Amino acid sequence: MNDQQTSIPRIGDNAPDFTATTTTGELTFSDYNVGSWVIFFSHPADFTPVCTTEMSGFALEQDSFFAIHNTKLLGLSIDSIHSHIAWVENVQRKTGVLFRFPIVADIDMSVAKLWGMLQPGESETAAVRAVFIVDPNGVIRLIMYYPMNVGRSMDEIKRTLIALQTATENKCSMPLNWKPGDRVILPAPKTVEALEERLDSGLEMVDFYLATKAL
Ligand code: BEZ
Repeated sequence: MNDQQTSIPRIGDNAPDFTATTTTGELTFSDYNVGSWVIFFSHPADFTPVCTTEMSGFALEQDSFFAIHNTKLLGLSIDSIHSHIAWVENVQRKTGVLFRFPIVADIDMSVAKLWGMLQPGESETAAVRAVFIVDPNGVIRLIMYYPMNVGRSMDEIKRTLIALQTATENKCSMPLNWKPGDRVILPAPKTVEALEERLDSGLEMVDFYLATKAL
């Protein structure tokens, strides 16, 4: 048992707050989260290949996340601010892609520990590839963990963000492999009267507990 981390955040928890040095200046998470969703993701290390592909993927989507999905990006690794700045400059010079979203410099590992990004079985000193989707109320709505050697799927991160936002706005759930435009699942009836209404509703359904509609 490793004592680096006493607890890790779970879905439904309030996002643990912190203030940290980032590539865009000092940032307090709760301030950054005001009025928008936040995708907070960690990567193991600057100047590593998989991380470079992932961060470039986030950078290319940054504008559409913000403009279309009211979502800000925030990265983190257990590296110094000098390393982050050098890596950002290097990737821009080599590929033309600029990481404009803030990247937390977590050299003392305090934020990685607070957010459950350190998983000692994988590494004692580098964060795993974690993704936290936090809603504008500061509640963690989705968590993904990937190991060091497997890059994440930008399509899946986007799909789950849109699914969460659509489910929240429409009080519905999303079935297997849901994608924007697909039918959504309605909440099951909770009273006998609601059950009768459901059965008479004309909705497309397998049975009363699995009814769908197009949005
Ligand atoms: C990578 O990003 O390529 C990487 C980082 C840490 C461990 C393994 C791979």
